[in-house]
Amino acid sequence: MDYLRIEGPCTLSGSVPISGAKNAALPLIAMTLLAKNDVTLNRLPAVKDIKTLLKLLEHLGATYTMGDHSVTINTQNIIHTRAIYEIVKTMRASILALGPLLAREGHCEVSLPGGCAIGQRPIDLHLKALEMMGAQITIKGGYVYAEARQGLKGAHIIFDKITVTGTANIVMAAALAKGKTIITNAAREPEVVQLCEVLRRSGVGIEGIGTQELVIYGTDRRLIEIEPFEIIPDRIEAGTYLCAAAITRSRVTLTQVRPEHLDAVIAKLRTMGFGFETSADTITILPTQQIKPASIVTQEYPAFPTDMQAQFLALSTQAEGTSTIEERLFENRFMHVSELQRLGAEIRLNGNVATVVGPAPLYGADVMATDLRASSALVLAALAAEGTTDVHRIYHLDRGYEGLELKLKALGANITRLQE
Ligand code: UD1
Repeated sequence: MDYLRIEGPCTLSGSVPISGAKNAALPLIAMTLLAKNDVTLNRLPAVKDIKTLLKLLEHLGATYTMGDHSVTINTQNIIHTRAIYEIVKTMRASILALGPLLAREGHCEVSLPGGCAIGQRPIDLHLKALEMMGAQITIKGGYVYAEARQGLKGAHIIFDKITVTGTANIVMAAALAKGKTIITNAAREPEVVQLCEVLRRSGVGIEGIGTQELVIYGTDRRLIEIEPFEIIPDRIEAGTYLCAAAITRSRVTLTQVRPEHLDAVIAKLRTMGFGFETSADTITILPTQQIKPASIVTQEYPAFPTDMQAQFLALSTQAEGTSTIEERLFENRFMHVSELQRLGAEIRLNGNVATVVGPAPLYGADVMATDLRASSALVLAALAAEGTTDVHRIYHLDRGYEGLELKLKALGANITRLQE
């Protein structure tokens, strides 16, 4: 198993190109199930989760050709409608196949994703919405069996909670449904916006893109023609590199990025004392000698993202004073706390609120990654820690960060991938 060895502390410099967004790519790959033509996705991030979803589509009968950071997918010969446990268990986002597969084939079976390290993460809202669209859903033997032999029908869906993959799933289902679907309390994440925009360019009527209420006019099972497109930059990868620069008090420029997708993250870093220079597609973070403590509450977009919580927790350990970080989206997303404590962080956990007392001197140690974003928090802390840190179980990192150690090395970090 691979692990990362980091010698700290270090100062970073230079620029880092941001990859395509994993969380945009996943629904967009699932969306190819709605296409009648070969679909090319450009700026595809080279990360494990993408390979997993492509494997799932291949299992259903799709074929694909990989290019340099691109893939062309052909879904004309779907022969299976069962998304098997062996693939779904490795990535919850496999649930994104449910909406388009059901809408297109009239029936499908998708393994329940089960629990995951950051909490329960149910899919009840996805299922309830599909039922409202006329699907019959049963759960048996760990699988969701969904049927709508005559096709799905438009409906008014009101999500009790804002759900990102839930919104994407229902948008895709509604695209091939008969009639009009309204989604109230829809997610507004840029990744959902891109899915809607690509569908709209492909001839699906969609109103309210980027707002809390989406209206989708379905094609009544007529497959759509999708032109090649480029996946948006990964705002969470970008935010992670901003935190890497911040914790090492370095000046770093991110390129190929969309600054407007990072408003909440940049605003928080500004209150912590960091300066910024931005252009249409670059962000330069300027160091500060005195990091101010932060008060953070994770919420849905456009507020502060839960996917940046762990990285800011690592950064707060170096702030002068007491920071508080409240996690509102997931009930068990603080597993990085005990690992950060191994490095010397002073953190108290009380329910879903972490109180961080800084600045705490950090010293290298062996630490274990527990989930994707938690892993990057450990890498950030290691960059600021004195001595050697070995970050184990980095398969979590490989799920979502393209060439993390290569990008950090190019910025001047002393980081190496080794094998246990
Ligand atoms: C997506 C992102 C993930 C991010 C999260 C929140 C992808 C592939 N993943 O995950 O990186 O951390 O959004 O921004 O895009 N919920 C229910 N019932 C449901 C669905 C969700 O109760 O049927 C709850 C969840 O448990 C959670 C909240 O709603 O508390 C938000 O979850 P959701 O937005 O669905 O997260 P994901 O789409 O899984």
